[in-house]
Amino acid sequence: MAPAGRAVRGTTTDRTRRSSLATRDNRTGREYEFPIEDGAVRALDLRQIKTNETDFGLLSYDPAFQNTAACRSAITFIDGDAGILRYRGYPIEELAERKTYLEVAYLLIYGRLPGKAELAEWLHNVTYHTMVHENVKKFMDGFHHDAHPMGMVVSTLAALSTFYPEAKEIRNEEFRQRQIHRLVGKMPTIAAFAYRHSVGMAYIYPDNDLSYTANFLAMMYRPSWTARYSPDPTLAKALDTLFVLHADHEQNCSTSTMRMVGSSLADPYVSSAAAAAALYGPLHGGANEQVVRMLQEIGSKDKVPALIRQVKSGKRKLMGFGHRVYKNFDPRAQIIKQIAESVFAVTGRNRLIDVALALEKAALSDDYFIKRRLYPNVDFYSGIIYQAMGFPMDIFPVLFAIPRMSGWLAHWQEMLTDPEQKIARPRQVYIGRGERHVPTKSTETE
Ligand code: ACO
Repeated sequence: MAPAGRAVRGTTTDRTRRSSLATRDNRTGREYEFPIEDGAVRALDLRQIKTNETDFGLLSYDPAFQNTAACRSAITFIDGDAGILRYRGYPIEELAERKTYLEVAYLLIYGRLPGKAELAEWLHNVTYHTMVHENVKKFMDGFHHDAHPMGMVVSTLAALSTFYPEAKEIRNEEFRQRQIHRLVGKMPTIAAFAYRHSVGMAYIYPDNDLSYTANFLAMMYRPSWTARYSPDPTLAKALDTLFVLHADHEQNCSTSTMRMVGSSLADPYVSSAAAAAALYGPLHGGANEQVVRMLQEIGSKDKVPALIRQVKSGKRKLMGFGHRVYKNFDPRAQIIKQIAESVFAVTGRNRLIDVALALEKAALSDDYFIKRRLYPNVDFYSGIIYQAMGFPMDIFPVLFAIPRMSGWLAHWQEMLTDPEQKIARPRQVYIGRGERHVPTKSTETE
């Protein structure tokens, strides 16, 4: 390929030329020029580059989609180098400080902060749908007593598809909005039921007089013999802020899955079940659980250097460190560090925080991490807070899935209403055998 600077070299002031990519195919000597729009060339343009008429055309090879934009999106903006995260243009720091999770969910899904009347209607709609069908309860009862709560959430989300067949009509605006209300409303209920099932406790129905997170905490922890339960407001607020921070993160693995599955026009229940499955993995939503396990294993500050040595020798990863996009700092991690102190003021200090702080200090001053631009990500501190709040470790990915539902739905809706989108179907570079033939009786050697 010709040097990348070729299109802009020289004295041309022509606007089109400056926003285009000129390239030469050294196999044929032919030159091409492609428009650059919003910092991107269209991958399909590359197909014009052929060695002959029967050639399929040039593909871009991008395992793990490290440099491929699959959509145009107006939802979330990230500048990984500058540590900037904005939802619909609003800085995450301002949203975390001034807005509730449900206001932020509305913002993500509908593109603007709700006015008073819109907010009242949205809260009504979400709250109205917090209950689950009694058969959903029975369905969840069928899980083995030690089933992982995230496995239960993934399966139950998919099962909801069978309760609401109208959800298949994804082009029907009224039906689509109803499924959005149901999914945002039911997530805390399903999550809490999964937890109660895993500890053998009776399910607690939603209390619609409580806020979104206070209701969730009540469904998690209310003793079944009491009629009301008021969670500590500081903890409910801390959880609400954590939900704001986790609500969206543009084209991450689970959101891309939501878009991918949704692109076949599958209903939002099975699509979000697939997204939740992607979130379950230890490299994504499962990381905060792994962080706490790692910190417990380290146990005390004096063991930190040994762990760092193991990481540097390639024996293991430092969980909660590193990010595909953030290469200086993760703004969410900084906010979470502050939330930790407010939570500890209520729950008492989680001793793992001291190990985490020592680990962060050691890593941030070590060449291995500096060179690779590895910093604490959102999951480094969230698990410690969840643990202080009494959440068992295997519910951590579920705590991530509850708020991420609004991000998934925002992207799902954006994908459905984008005229450029169609069923997602990547290409491959085939590296297998050429044509060969199954032996017939006469050519068989054995
Ligand atoms: N510990 C030690 N080394 C690491 C870590 C880590 N946590 N993360 C990356 N590296 C190293 C890699 O080994 C690689 O080193 P090399 O150049 O010598 O081969 C280099 O840093 C670049 O790493 P990549 O794997 O190319 O980074 P990538 O962008 O593919 O991965 C990821 C990002 C998956 C988040 C990775 O940093 C990781 O596995 N972190 C730990 C898991 C984690 O915390 N996940 C949560 C992410 S945030 C979220 O999902 C909400």
